[in-house]
Amino acid sequence: MTMRAVKASSAVRGIKLVVAVLIVAALGLFTLAGGRGVEAAQGGGVVNVYSSRHYGVEPVFVEFTKETGIGVRFTTGSDAALRERIRAEGRFTLADVYLAVDAGNLWLAARDGLLQVVESATLTRNIPKHLRDSGNRWFGLTRRVRTIMYHPDRVKPAELSTYEALADPRWRGRLAMRPATHPYTQSLVASLIAAHGEARAEEIVRGWVANRPQLIDSDTRILETLAAGAADVAITNHYYLGRLLEANPAFPIKIFWANQGPGERGVHVNISGAGITTHAPNRANAQQFLEWLSGPRGQGLFSASNHEYPANPEAPVHPIVATFGEFRADNLDLGELGRLQADAIRLLDRAGYR
Ligand code: FE2
Repeated sequence: MTMRAVKASSAVRGIKLVVAVLIVAALGLFTLAGGRGVEAAQGGGVVNVYSSRHYGVEPVFVEFTKETGIGVRFTTGSDAALRERIRAEGRFTLADVYLAVDAGNLWLAARDGLLQVVESATLTRNIPKHLRDSGNRWFGLTRRVRTIMYHPDRVKPAELSTYEALADPRWRGRLAMRPATHPYTQSLVASLIAAHGEARAEEIVRGWVANRPQLIDSDTRILETLAAGAADVAITNHYYLGRLLEANPAFPIKIFWANQGPGERGVHVNISGAGITTHAPNRANAQQFLEWLSGPRGQGLFSASNHEYPANPEAPVHPIVATFGEFRADNLDLGELGRLQADAIRLLDRAGYR
């Protein structure tokens, strides 16, 4: 190596070091700027959470800190943006826990190597098998049920039965649904593919499209559209109705549990859930955090904060949600929703669902 080459390569090393330091500093500032926190009382350490579930999480974290002495620092964002950030931060990540909505997002994080295996007897005891990753890289914490909603002045429950039956021409011009770009739609269609195969699933989706549903990118606005009389039947997640009823007990929309008849597979269930990142700096605290969230107390608080159902069958259900009554759930392994997501997106496109 010539003298000039040696100088040049040490200069490159110097520049690389400066760039690395700047990146770490920038990431740290970004986290401080975008993050919020619940500080531990007596230096019990911390767990850093990147969360795409923002509704009502803070009081739950406060309770965890009270009980364990571990502080919670968290930052929120969309599922895809948080995954991208964990990937970009690599081994310098501050994230201990990725907390996400929709099993498809957790499946993608695991597939991309962003989550580590967690062997915990507590988690496997508390969370039913079909609500967690078969490789124990993510665990469902709440169940969110995507089902049929209707206005009782214009629809009798006896007219309703299944997602499939909403393809019947009697519903032409009367439906409101979420666009194809939303993961809720993609996961529902993935569950149709799992149940029927692609060809039959496509026929069903084509039937929905032929009924010219209003596509509205907010479940709350969908329910308000029903209430205002601009649609008769819709598909939304159950907790949006819970929220609207909490604000206004006279909100007129009713819930119908889909696919409950003899031989039917049950209503479509998705989750919010979490995993520990591959490079988690506070791994033990992260595991304690997940275990606490899976126990009866953490489950009760975490599910009630968003009117969801707990994943742990021992945990209590929010009183408004309890009025929705019993249902039979489709016990599809939720990893399938991730595995079939790309197929579902292509199917929606082919069927002209936008
Ligand atoms: Fe939601």
